[in-house]
Amino acid sequence: MTESGQLLRIDALHPEPDRIARAARVLLDGGLVAFPTETVYGLGANALDAEMVRRIYVAKGRPTWNPVIAHVASINAARELVTVWSDDAERLALAFWPGPLTLVLPKRDCIPDVATAGLSAVGVRMPNHPIALALLRVTGFPVAAPSANRFTEISPTTAQHVVTSLGDRVDLVLDGGACEVGIESTVLDLSGDAPTVLRPGMISRAQLAAVLGCPVGDQSAITVAAHGLTHAQRSPGTTDRHYAPRAQVWLFDASEVHDVTAALAQRMHTGAPTRVTALLLAVTLPAASNQSIVRMPREAADYAHHLYAALHDADAVGASLIIIERPPNTDAWSGVRNRLERAAH
Ligand code: TXA
Ligand code: MG
Repeated sequence: MTESGQLLRIDALHPEPDRIARAARVLLDGGLVAFPTETVYGLGANALDAEMVRRIYVAKGRPTWNPVIAHVASINAARELVTVWSDDAERLALAFWPGPLTLVLPKRDCIPDVATAGLSAVGVRMPNHPIALALLRVTGFPVAAPSANRFTEISPTTAQHVVTSLGDRVDLVLDGGACEVGIESTVLDLSGDAPTVLRPGMISRAQLAAVLGCPVGDQSAITVAAHGLTHAQRSPGTTDRHYAPRAQVWLFDASEVHDVTAALAQRMHTGAPTRVTALLLAVTLPAASNQSIVRMPREAADYAHHLYAALHDADAVGASLIIIERPPNTDAWSGVRNRLERAAH
């Protein structure tokens, strides 16, 4: 991996036009470009070209039943990808775009089946990041971009995370620093009878319901078993073993801290070599030499911003066990709690 060849530093607020042009050229030539969005880094290719989209699946080792999101630079560009741009879609896009909300709508034929894993609807999103928007404007086509990590790994929130996960499977990585939001977009299905969240994110169901003026369903519950497309699973990509660090993950409520302390002591006694990283909010643990404590922010947005970096760091120092204090069970924390449940599954 040569830093000069593959990693290209670029200003996050005012991306240098010549660097955007270079990245656009790679995409036009059929290559893969990783770029920052406000949520996580995406692994991009021309969404209208089946062959290019297929390259994304190969690079990630991603099963073909897991659809990718098409990124656009405007509401007009989104309309061109779908057969029905409903009033709900318009309202939500006006309220939350550019931003961390993906809308699933009936797709037009220009979107190749491989991009939607054969489904008749496509996920569309206008990201809130100057680099992503500049790239989309210059290429002129929608960019299919899943998170820029290998399948089942934690999503990248820095360019270095991308390089560590994908190595030379990506042609160019635009390094625009750390992602602001830190967890993936809220995915909302507008193709069915009622708006339904398929994957929670930092835009909450309550916020969506407030804009729509109607209740919003939730299909994001973690389903056990299926690692393939099932009827119960409308968003096939939201499988269980996902967003997972290499270490084992335990989640616990603050009220269970004594049980956790006892379980840790027990584990030490059995002599199993254990390096522990603890992501904590309120509780304290007895000091131990094999243990790193990370104090996590008490506010959901800050927590989300730091979460994946903390999990990547735990992997990097060779933690064999990550113990995580569960955040509150409220709407604002639903995206974070969903990622924690998946990491622990
Ligand atoms: O924040 C994000 O959404 C990031 C950045 C790069 O935009 N992208 C991302 O992509 O997280 P990915 O591929 O890792 O996750 C996409 C999610 C999956 O859970 C997938 O199942 C769901 O969106 N999805 C995409 N298209 C869909 C469709 N047509 N129907 C149902 N679910 C869909
Ligand atoms: Mg992903």
